[in-house]
Amino acid sequence: MKLTLPDEAATVALGRHLLAVLPADLANWTILLQGELGAGKSTLARALINAAGHTGPVPSPTYTLVEPYELPRGILYHIDLYRVSDEDELQYLGWDDLGDGCRLVEWPERVAGLGEQADLMVRLRYAKGGREVEISGLSERGSALLVALAATYPED
Ligand SMILES: Nc1ncnc2c1ncn2[C@@H]1O[C@H](COP(=O)(O)OP(=O)(O)O)[C@@H](O)[C@H]1O
Ligand SMILES: [Mg+2]
Repeated sequence: MKLTLPDEAATVALGRHLLAVLPADLANWTILLQGELGAGKSTLARALINAAGHTGPVPSPTYTLVEPYELPRGILYHIDLYRVSDEDELQYLGWDDLGDGCRLVEWPERVAGLGEQADLMVRLRYAKGGREVEISGLSERGSALLVALAATYPED
């Protein structure tokens, strides 16, 4: 599905709507966030994390790579792979230890094959002062979720 996000508030609203259609138990969900620098990946991740009940700051994981959030609906990991260049490095940073947490992954294209383990691909791009977003399902449940998400955007 494709949406126009004319301003930051629209990106934040998308984060909230995404969380609203995700199951109560976020275990094992993986959402990939693609887009160039400033496209709104962190804005979207922050909105989703806040909507899931986190009230404090949401620092960028650019240097820490992984920022964990223990939330009522399960543990959520905000991940930034900008500094990661291959799958070996991913294992080194403890990817396998993230267990059944929910993963929000910025710069997923740094690691080949991540799409096979993921549920949703969110692609953000600059458009007319705002942004456009294209969301695709990478798993069966991801595709099913898109149907519910589309219902929250009837005008698009
Ligand atoms: N739909 C939008 N239209 C215009 N500006 C936006 C939109 N969504 C987010 N922004 C702004 O763009 C910037 C995106 O930054 P950020 O979310 O850190 O991007 P990224 O993580 O992709 O590098 C922020 O300044 C944010 O306020
Ligand atoms: Mg970012």
